[in-house]
Amino acid sequence: MNPREQLAEHLSFLTELGIDGVSRDARWRRAGADDRVVPRLPGPSEVEGGPTETTAHTLPAIRTDLGDCTRCKLHRLGRRQIVFGVGNPDAALMFVGEAPGRDEDVQGIPFVGRAGQLLTKMIEAIGLRREDVYIANVIKCRPPENRNPEPDEVASCEPFLFRQVGAIAPTVIVALGTFAAQALLKTQDPISRLRGRVYKYGGAQLIPTFHPAFLLRSPDRKRDAWQDLKQAKALLDAAAAATIDPQA
Ligand code: URA
Repeated sequence: MNPREQLAEHLSFLTELGIDGVSRDARWRRAGADDRVVPRLPGPSEVEGGPTETTAHTLPAIRTDLGDCTRCKLHRLGRRQIVFGVGNPDAALMFVGEAPGRDEDVQGIPFVGRAGQLLTKMIEAIGLRREDVYIANVIKCRPPENRNPEPDEVASCEPFLFRQVGAIAPTVIVALGTFAAQALLKTQDPISRLRGRVYKYGGAQLIPTFHPAFLLRSPDRKRDAWQDLKQAKALLDAAAAATIDPQA
């Protein structure tokens, strides 16, 4: 795609999101590599809700512990493969979704179907690339017929998500939809009540927003999601600015 086509695609997504003007805020007009320089946070032992036992704290070690998982019934309900997570293990920004769907089950990569394509556009709309961030789900196996995850499945699988968050130690976590927000915030509140605020998750700041699959069904909520993404970007920029050495 040439730069002109790239720009046209970017602008069409902003229009899709309900953005019809250009911000005068310098932070939003600046783009490029510097925006992606962000600090790492303290390790997993300092992340609330992270592992309490002595466990290996790297993503490969967590994947090894997960193994060919049979901890819940999803392993015998038609899953093709475990969908662990994808992206930069040192990401400052982490997205957490619900569970793999059909395309993710086939490819073994989170968010590659229609909802995933929208998520990719959302990431690019804040000046980042998919490779810059880390993407994982609460549930690592596809529920049959894409039904909602059940409480026992969440209970079996969420410790691996918590360990992934601990390993990555992101600056900002964006929880996509009710299941991700509820698992990370230990609440039963729906996403409509949770979004619009920034929460703490250990050393990270957590922003709940609507799931891209919901946004595909309810495009009028894209504007809210855009506000949430701008908030995430502003937090990343503030953290990056705080680490810049004025003497350098
Ligand atoms: N929806 C999710 O929550 N996760 C995926 O990986 C794909 C769709």
